[in-house]
Amino acid sequence: TLSQEEMETRITKLKKDLGKKLFILGHHYQKDEVIQFADATGDSLQLAQISAANKEAEHIVFCGVHFMAETADMLTTSEQHVYLPDMRAGCSMADMADIYQTEQAWPILQQLFGDTMIPLTYVNSTAAIKAFTGRYGGACVTSSNAKEMVKWAFSKKQRILFLPDQHLGRNTAFELGVPLENMAVWNPHTQKLETQQSPENIQVILWKGHCSVHEGFTVQHTEMIRQTYPEMRIIVHPECSREVVAAADDAGSTKYIIDTISNAPSGSSWAIGTEMNLVRRIIQQHPDKHIISLNENFCPCLTMNRIDLPHLLWSLESIADGQPQNRIQVDENTAIEARSSLERMLKRV
Ligand code: 13P
Ligand code: SF4
Repeated sequence: TLSQEEMETRITKLKKDLGKKLFILGHHYQKDEVIQFADATGDSLQLAQISAANKEAEHIVFCGVHFMAETADMLTTSEQHVYLPDMRAGCSMADMADIYQTEQAWPILQQLFGDTMIPLTYVNSTAAIKAFTGRYGGACVTSSNAKEMVKWAFSKKQRILFLPDQHLGRNTAFELGVPLENMAVWNPHTQKLETQQSPENIQVILWKGHCSVHEGFTVQHTEMIRQTYPEMRIIVHPECSREVVAAADDAGSTKYIIDTISNAPSGSSWAIGTEMNLVRRIIQQHPDKHIISLNENFCPCLTMNRIDLPHLLWSLESIADGQPQNRIQVDENTAIEARSSLERMLKRV
């Protein structure tokens, strides 16, 4: 086995040898050991935009999770190939909206609501769900454009089916003035709406999915911070529950969290409710500020963390050897419809 230093030396050399043929993308939740080699970093929206803009790299190594690599594959040309250094790097939230369940749900919902619904899917979803969304005239959203896209969807139809994260859907619709009682959760297991409301009052149907990392932040944590550090500002990702977002001072995408803290005055203090690698990096980059995790157990995203130095090295070696491994390739029929939902989003933001 190689030492960390040896792996780093090899990766540096492989990057140099492959030159412009190679492009490494890194999501903000990636480990420092991986992020140091990324040619571009960003939140989900930025990474989608960067993939779409890159026309020259033959090999795109995606350090992030499966749905992000699928998105990059669909937004790049057919000559560009996208790889995920570890196939086990999935996203448990994306897996909560299964395409078969979704196709079963749609006619049941149509019986209740007729032709009044438009689907919106968080990019944290499989290509098949994005294709379903595109087929019915809907679009993708990310945590940094959700408000914009929910407004757009309401300009098209009376009701939104929001997949797969109930929390991002609820937080966004609530901030746009939709009362909580006008939102209903769709349970894909019972195939029923969890509501006492009559259908005509329902404006947003929330798929019953969530992020297990962000469910690790609770109102007890925000209360503890308020007691212990009354000066501290609390900022969280909108994948946290409505109660946590309401108890926090601010909420936004990973990019928004990074920018907000970077622009905050020296000496200010912050509790952050998002994935551990990003929180640790922000802490390191701002020694002049007092920053802690909203949950002292930090909350890692286990699947994001599967991408590490050995997997990155293995991926680059396979490319250099002319036998690239772990290519992510969305079949063209799915990609055509999924692209329409991605493009409806990218055109607007
Ligand atoms: P961002 O788009 O805010 O980077 O979020 C992606 C994600 O997976 C959050 O859990
Ligand atoms: Fe998926 Fe949550 Fe991990 Fe983001 S943090 S990749 S939503 S499991």
